[in-house]
Amino acid sequence: MALVGAALKLFLSLLLWLNSLTSSQGKENLWEYRYPFIRRASSFSSSSSSTSSNGPEKSYDYIIVGGGTAGCPLATTLSQNYSVLLLERGGAPFANVNVSFMQNFHISLADTSPKSASQTFISTDGVFNSRARVLGGGTCINAGFYTRASTSYVSKAGWDSKLVNESYPWIEKQIVHRPDLAPWQSAFRDSLLEVGVSPFNGFTYDHIYGTKIGGTIFDRFGRRHTAAELLASANPEKLNVIIHATVQKIVFDTTGKKPKAVGVIFKDENGNQHHAILSKRWRSEIIVSCGAIGSPQLLLLSGIGPKADLKKLNISVVFDNKFVGKGMSDNPLNTVFVPTKKPVKQSLIQAVGITKKGVYIEASSGFGQSLDSIRCNHGLVSAEIGQLSTIPPKRRTQEAIIAYRRSKRHLPHEAFRGGFIIEKIAYPLSTGQLSLLNTNVDDNPSVTFNYFSHPYDLQRCVDGIRVVEKIVSSRHFTNYTQCDKKTLENLLNMSVQANVNLIPKHTNDTQSLEQWCRDTVVTIWHYHGGCHVGKVVSPNYKVHGVHRLRVIDGSTFRESPGTNPQGTVMMMGRYMGVKILRQRLGKSSDATSRNWLDIKRMEYQHFHSLVSMYYKYLSCKLSPFGVSFMLEYLYYG
Ligand SMILES: Cc1cc2nc3c(=O)[nH]c(=O)nc-3n(C[C@H](O)[C@H](O)[C@H](O)COP(=O)(O)OP(=O)(O)OC[C@H]3O[C@@H](n4cnc5c(N)ncnc54)[C@H](O)[C@@H]3O)c2cc1C
Ligand SMILES: *[C@@H]1O[C@H](CO)[C@@H](O)[C@H](O)[C@H]1NC(C)=O
Ligand SMILES: *[C@@H]1O[C@H](CO)[C@@H](O)[C@H](O)[C@H]1NC(C)=O
Ligand SMILES: *[C@@H]1O[C@H](CO)[C@@H](O)[C@H](O)[C@H]1NC(C)=O
Ligand SMILES: *[C@@H]1O[C@H](CO)[C@@H](O)[C@H](O)[C@H]1NC(C)=O
Ligand SMILES: *[C@@H]1O[C@H](CO)[C@@H](O)[C@H](O)[C@H]1NC(C)=O
Ligand SMILES: *[C@@H]1O[C@H](CO)[C@@H](O)[C@H](O)[C@H]1NC(C)=O
Ligand SMILES: *[C@@H]1O[C@H](CO)[C@@H](O)[C@H](O)[C@H]1NC(C)=O
Repeated sequence: MALVGAALKLFLSLLLWLNSLTSSQGKENLWEYRYPFIRRASSFSSSSSSTSSNGPEKSYDYIIVGGGTAGCPLATTLSQNYSVLLLERGGAPFANVNVSFMQNFHISLADTSPKSASQTFISTDGVFNSRARVLGGGTCINAGFYTRASTSYVSKAGWDSKLVNESYPWIEKQIVHRPDLAPWQSAFRDSLLEVGVSPFNGFTYDHIYGTKIGGTIFDRFGRRHTAAELLASANPEKLNVIIHATVQKIVFDTTGKKPKAVGVIFKDENGNQHHAILSKRWRSEIIVSCGAIGSPQLLLLSGIGPKADLKKLNISVVFDNKFVGKGMSDNPLNTVFVPTKKPVKQSLIQAVGITKKGVYIEASSGFGQSLDSIRCNHGLVSAEIGQLSTIPPKRRTQEAIIAYRRSKRHLPHEAFRGGFIIEKIAYPLSTGQLSLLNTNVDDNPSVTFNYFSHPYDLQRCVDGIRVVEKIVSSRHFTNYTQCDKKTLENLLNMSVQANVNLIPKHTNDTQSLEQWCRDTVVTIWHYHGGCHVGKVVSPNYKVHGVHRLRVIDGSTFRESPGTNPQGTVMMMGRYMGVKILRQRLGKSSDATSRNWLDIKRMEYQHFHSLVSMYYKYLSCKLSPFGVSFMLEYLYYG
């Protein structure tokens, strides 16, 4: 113990020294050394509206809107040979404890403040949902599970399979890890095999039938690695990343036969407007990577969409396209809560079952249920409130929730014990739409997914629940939970009570699996669509009806790739970047930036130990979980 104490002291003084070192050199954060090209929007120099400066304005070969899962690898890749401006509405993720640590997954989603890395929206279906608002996008707030798409998905998408096979490893080498399997996950894996979801494919990124362990963007300390880290392999001479820059509209030159994108208008963190200009050079482009909610929203705000809808909001029509915002899909998720006798370690998705029925089975355990977190305020939309709430959904008034928070500390610790078996419906046939409610880009548009409106989706939910039933009553699983065998009716009843959505519940929920599926549907946040290939963009992702504009992200998907999409969204950013470079430079650019990347990786190794210590320090300072974390680091690190 004395040894640990001494080590701690030494460690803390080292960190204090580090901190003074960094501030004395004029940079507030250690990450600013690694990403010198990231700046705040208010420092952007442009002739904002009237206060025009003299001399020609700086213009860019590429303006990428949205520094998310696709936008970061895309900007990195294009910066090899061209000047790139990446505009992201959120802040930097690097020193944000809610983003950096797995324990804070729920806390981060529950943070509904305007500065939160996650922006809550509620679809008209009555399901709570989240969209990213931070550099790195969805990879900063998601559950971390990493998988590739199936080979048939790649060929259906019309992608060049050789370049796809080169683009995935580019991501994987930089930010993907092999997970340490949590006890809940290994019991779940054994149960999947016991009930016949086979063969066992071991640890693999491939999307193939059977049971497997996938990759994760969390390292063994539970620290998250995001798409924003891919920016470290950019060419710093040619990349400009602007954070807190919210793009309000794309500007078009409409004097020619076909409108041509020429720039964007964005506002900074103080609400001041700026104008960024696209280079006039041949093949320069604006690329929208704002995600499945943000990309259709920005096209509509810029005058590309259904004419009648645009006119209602006084948006001048640049190109009439009735398909913008159509074909929105979200994969329905239903979860069965399983209590355990002993507390379980927190885990997000690690093992998955890929069935031939078009249902994927995954699992998560623990809810950051430390003694501390029972007392934390996780907000209105946290899973925890739903999990433990004794307040029925319809009576969750503000007063009732405040009363609940007050009495929460008296809840027995056992109430937090357990986990979820979850089922996701692959390629749902039910679709919906997105439309603007107003012209404020900060507000969510109206989104409808129409979960289970197609009978085949409902049928698959019921089939999936029957598989979950088998898993829960399997020998391996009951041996692990050590609980008295619960009937399915019991478990379904508990899951109804644990459920957080705004859909009214029915008394026949535990008798009718169909009714149960409808009433307890939630999201696994794999929503996609709104800018479909063939309807809004071409197979090269160029926006129909205008010049110099593409959309590259999950809004172009008809189906969500793999069991989980982030791997393929990042791959797509890299893939399209290389493809665009090749087209613009000619085939000679084939020797992509391997050397560059290797040099960067060596620098990174030096940096790595410093950065990780700094993060530990931050987590100590800001998070109640920090101390146990740091001890773990001192013991095992
Ligand atoms: C809670 C959660 C858990 C998930 N779990 C997993 C998982 O375990 N595994 C997995 O594979 N997938 C998971 N996903 C899904 C995956 O993360 C997303 O599908 C993916 O990140 C979407 O990428 P995107 O590039 O389409 O959009 P995003 O990554 O959302 O990127 C869009 C970016 O554009 C920015 N933006 C939007 N509008 C503007 C504007 N007007 N001006 C400037 N910037 C703008 C946003 O701030 C954002 O950073 C999860 C998602 C969530 C939300
Ligand atoms: C493109 O960039 C790469 C890496 O920076 C470089 O090796 C290559 O020569 C460049 N190509 C052209 C045509 O400029
Ligand atoms: C993390 O989220 C919590 C709410 O869930 C919030 O109170 C806190 O300010 C957030 N921390 C940061 C650093 O954003
Ligand atoms: C790409 O990888 C997949 C799966 O690993 C393989 O089936 C396919 O043949 C590969 N394609 C090429 C062109 O190498
Ligand atoms: C659109 O413009 C008209 C006329 O200028 C105005 O009367 C109307 O209120 C505007 N509508 C909206 C939604 O701004
Ligand atoms: C049950 O669990 C114990 C320890 O938790 C383990 O030793 C035993 O092998 C398990 N039995 C089965 C059938 O999985
Ligand atoms: C669940 O069980 C409770 C009692 O424990 C009962 O009041 C309630 O009606 C049940 N709900 C359903 C949907 O069966
Ligand atoms: C469940 O009950 C509701 C009314 O309470 C009814 O409308 C619905 O059809 C029932 N569902 C099934 C599948 O029986």
